[in-house]
Amino acid sequence: MAEVNELVITRPDDWHLHLRDGDMLARVVPDTAKRFGRAIVMPNLVPPVTTAALARAYRQRILDAVPNGLAFEPLMTLYLTDNTTPAQIEAAKASGCVHGVKWYPAGATTNSDAGVTDIRRCDAALEAMQALEMPLLMHGEVTDHSVDVFDREAEFIQRHLIPLIARFPRLRVVFEHITTRQAAEFVAAAHEGVAATITPHHLLLNRNAIFAGGLRPHNYCLPVLKREEHRHALVAAATGGSPKFFLGTDSAPHERHAKESACGCAGIYSAPGAIELYAEIFDQAGALDRLEGFASFHGPDFYRLPRNTDTLTLKRETWQMPAQFGEGPDALVPMRAGDRMTWRLV
Ligand code: NCD
Ligand code: ZN
Repeated sequence: MAEVNELVITRPDDWHLHLRDGDMLARVVPDTAKRFGRAIVMPNLVPPVTTAALARAYRQRILDAVPNGLAFEPLMTLYLTDNTTPAQIEAAKASGCVHGVKWYPAGATTNSDAGVTDIRRCDAALEAMQALEMPLLMHGEVTDHSVDVFDREAEFIQRHLIPLIARFPRLRVVFEHITTRQAAEFVAAAHEGVAATITPHHLLLNRNAIFAGGLRPHNYCLPVLKREEHRHALVAAATGGSPKFFLGTDSAPHERHAKESACGCAGIYSAPGAIELYAEIFDQAGALDRLEGFASFHGPDFYRLPRNTDTLTLKRETWQMPAQFGEGPDALVPMRAGDRMTWRLV
């Protein structure tokens, strides 16, 4: 195949994104809105977005931060807690702006203290979600400290996901930001209502990146990066053409002081080069022709939303990702900071 130097694809969407709130929200929304038509916005604010009314208000704050001239639609989510009621799920469905409910195991990650302590406490809410076809978006890790941190996703499949799918066979489930061969294989073999998002960092980096020449806090995320064999399996899943896998950056900005700390926050800020990084991955895999399916078709098809109708153009061209956005302890350090990018947004 001749080398492709320009790529025109249907505008992509980001099916897993953290936008935060307040000043941070205004700083990060433009990076996503320049590239993506829509994004599933995660609800892990403080306090969490637990009701349709909170989601609607957050949606308006996001829209207020979209630069003039860009059309960007935030797709809102609710934060599932032990106390989420069927009535709250019904109100979320009726709102028209809530497109999923996020399951964080309590204590698993950033702002997950209000998360689910025991999935059985959520049976009534899950029943309502199944009936209303409201997808459950799962952070797939066990939080049991006796389980090795690198094994927490594989263990989650056995302990939680398999029993859940058996009890709610018509529930639509997105296994978020998968990081292992086991997760990729599980999703590929599951029924059509089970899908997964895959991040650019889990496709480009293995766990060596956390320790390359010294501790690299900007490569620390959850679920944590895994071995090279897992990265390979994820690349095969993403570039293989299956509609069960789609783009979700998990772009998760934290200010520099919160990353470069004795107890650094988990999260990689990939939004400033997200679609460019995915293009690089598909290019390296010899699968540029499949980028559009992964980035622009599989997500809306799963969520039963229309595909975008406008396009985005990428050019093969090297440029340097800025080392940081802003100055001092509040700066945001993006993925690939100060380093070479191989695709450019036109
Ligand atoms: C996310 C965050 O910072 O909100 N962090 C991360 O490492 N991915 C939370 C999450 O998605 O687990
Ligand atoms: Zn996330």
